[in-house]
Amino acid sequence: MWLLKRLLQIRISTCVFIVLCYEAIKNLRKLPKSNYGHIPRGALEHELHKEVVPSLDVKETLLDCTYDDILQSNESIHNWQVPTKYDDFSAAGISNGSFTPEHCNPLVSVAILVVYRNRPGHLYIFLHYMHNFLRKQNIHYKIFLIDQQDNKYFNRGLLFNIGARAAIAEQFPCLILHDVDLLPLDAANLYACLRQPRHMSASIDRHRFVLVYESYAGGVLAIRANQFQLQNGFSNRFEKWGGEDDDLYNRMEAHGLKLFRFPPDMSRYTMLYHTPQEVNEDRRRIIAENKLRPGGEGLDCVSYESLRLVPQQLVTQLAVRL
Ligand code: UDP
Ligand code: BGC
Ligand code: MN
Repeated sequence: MWLLKRLLQIRISTCVFIVLCYEAIKNLRKLPKSNYGHIPRGALEHELHKEVVPSLDVKETLLDCTYDDILQSNESIHNWQVPTKYDDFSAAGISNGSFTPEHCNPLVSVAILVVYRNRPGHLYIFLHYMHNFLRKQNIHYKIFLIDQQDNKYFNRGLLFNIGARAAIAEQFPCLILHDVDLLPLDAANLYACLRQPRHMSASIDRHRFVLVYESYAGGVLAIRANQFQLQNGFSNRFEKWGGEDDDLYNRMEAHGLKLFRFPPDMSRYTMLYHTPQEVNEDRRRIIAENKLRPGGEGLDCVSYESLRLVPQQLVTQLAVRL
């Protein structure tokens, strides 16, 4: 009787508050995983694929570069601090988008392929920020911009295939496939290939720093050139937005390749703001068709018109028409 009386005295607002708390706690459990399977920090050095372009000038007076300190670094920035990391810029040591450390002999050569069309604001930030970031990593790298200069639909996979062919022609052993709007926030995120392909952008602020799904391979991915060739690159069939990265994952899986990742606190990225592209409504059908012949068309059959190859200081630009 006393309990019933007390219950009737509870105000409606209190009831609503209790129900909301209950719902919030229930939903917290449904949030996506903030973690994922990854290589432990201590084992990363062992997994590195150490190989440089054969033409790299190895100086006998210098020691080999080391990577342990970078991989163990705890230095990170918040996404709102990004401008402080590109405002202050000097292009010293950079030409054709390429940089080689001078105090040690690098053990890693990386081609960073950036697919692009008409996002000049992003490109400006990307190049200044990335050179500042990469110059500290003791690696030899070169940034290629694969610039689609036509009014056809954007084709991310085909552009990466075009860039990969150029980088492979220069004998780069490691390709990093990069969106122009993603910037790494952790100094320990070493731009290098591993024994297996590596999904680098596992923790993006736009995705609330959570891996959206286990087989997600979009954003930034590092893959050895011979593995990319083995699976015949990307499919060229995906236009507009979506699907080509899921198809790439299927190709890797079909060729016995496994996707590795660094720990979440080394894999944070910020995505610069942009409006969404038009979605490819056919993407699921094309993915299903491609699954029947994984690697059926791709790197071996790119068709495009090469307009110009422009070595600028901060980037080597490949202007193309699809
Ligand atoms: N992209 C571009 N111009 C475009 C569309 C895409 O440069 O008009 C490039 C750019 O590198 C971008 C990437 O393709 O980061 C992926 O496209 P988007 O950022 O639109 O994909 P989302 O982030 O929405 O998955
Ligand atoms: C699309 C991918 C995209 C992912 C995450 C998927 O549905 O097919 O291309 O990267 O969503 O946004
Ligand atoms: Mn984007």
